[in-house]
Amino acid sequence: MNTVELITKKRDGRVLTEAEIEYLVKGYTAGDIPDYQMSAFLMAVYFNGMTKDETVALTQIMRDSGDVVDLSAIDGIKVDKHSTGGVGDKTTLIVGPVAAACGVPIAKMSGRGLGFTGGTVDKLEAIPGYKTSISEQEFMDQVNDKGISVIGQTGHIAPADKKIYALRDVTATVENLSLITASIMSKKLAAGSDAILLDVKCGSGAFMKSQKDAEKLAELMVEIGKADGKETMAMITDMEQPLGNAIGNTLEVQEAIDVLKNCGPKDITELCIALAGMMIYLGKKADTPEEGMQKAQRALEDGSALEKFRDLIEGQGGDTAIIDNYALMPQAEFKLDLEAWDDGYIASMDAMKFGLASQHTGAGRERKEDEIDMSAGIVLAKKIGDTVAAGDVICSIYGNDMKKIQKSLEEVRNAVRIGIKKPEKVDLIKKIVK
Ligand code: URA
Repeated sequence: MNTVELITKKRDGRVLTEAEIEYLVKGYTAGDIPDYQMSAFLMAVYFNGMTKDETVALTQIMRDSGDVVDLSAIDGIKVDKHSTGGVGDKTTLIVGPVAAACGVPIAKMSGRGLGFTGGTVDKLEAIPGYKTSISEQEFMDQVNDKGISVIGQTGHIAPADKKIYALRDVTATVENLSLITASIMSKKLAAGSDAILLDVKCGSGAFMKSQKDAEKLAELMVEIGKADGKETMAMITDMEQPLGNAIGNTLEVQEAIDVLKNCGPKDITELCIALAGMMIYLGKKADTPEEGMQKAQRALEDGSALEKFRDLIEGQGGDTAIIDNYALMPQAEFKLDLEAWDDGYIASMDAMKFGLASQHTGAGRERKEDEIDMSAGIVLAKKIGDTVAAGDVICSIYGNDMKKIQKSLEEVRNAVRIGIKKPEKVDLIKKIVK
């Protein structure tokens, strides 16, 4: 096969065979096809798209580029959950323990973040002593013993995606339906669970800005999961404003614990009950999603989800005392408040701008090698639809570098709009795709 001919074929809008896609992916991963040719191919895909069959092939080839984890040593139906990414999204820290408390084994490999805030693994590292890297045997033993383990993704999962995603990131080819689907699903299918729940975000802080595009992505990912023999469902959820009140690593762990204590913000609690309910249903511990949600609610009310979180931390060497004393996690030296400049209603809070402002406090990485400031971030005191009077605190910025938090304060000032009319309420959960 000839790389230039394959680029030409896609450039001209023709359909590639599985063997041709395999040639490109394997050749690029092995270093035989250079970045400039892969970049041209990705741009051709960006403009001309891929058929469903091409997307299935791309996903499966990327899945098989590394290890496909065998979780059969863990009893029960293993359910994985994936969010397409959003600002203040700490749901894994909550739904994992809730579903585990309801009998669903949670064997979760999570990623680190680039941009916005950290990923789940970065957040867990705000807990002193928590080991995100343990052996495969320890991982399996902990799930069998405690019902839950959350670790960092190993370097052997879908290495082709790792290399291609890094290239997409710098060639403006991330936002393509087939490429996003293949990237996410190759990793999910390699992670070895029996069923997958996808939380597809839509709004200003998400890849997919419109509900229509989010639905298309969800439908394609669900189809690809099912084509691989896994029960797969998706929820389309709102990312027009940050989720919950906290953005940043320690701050998000604190908020997750508040939710597990059943005293967290309403929006994230509602979303976590829905997500966990669906996981409990997919794990066959409830006959319907509604029954799953009732069980999830009960696990928050009776403290069993919080106990699972304690088990998780203890099993992975972390200090469980943080649950009752948040000050044992890294705390910021400085705090600045954004005050309302007018009376009225919070009309909008641009999630993307909040994400970037939080990143600039030090809570997220701008480059792969950057160190995260665990204590930095933003806490919202108001959300869309709340009334404000001039001088009220809208949000607080935390960090250890005054210059950074001053810049972040300016950014959030531009991320908030105050209006005189109460905005219409938007649904947090927009649609279920199955
Ligand atoms: N997350 C991924 O892992 N891949 C994408 O392409 C987009 C989001």
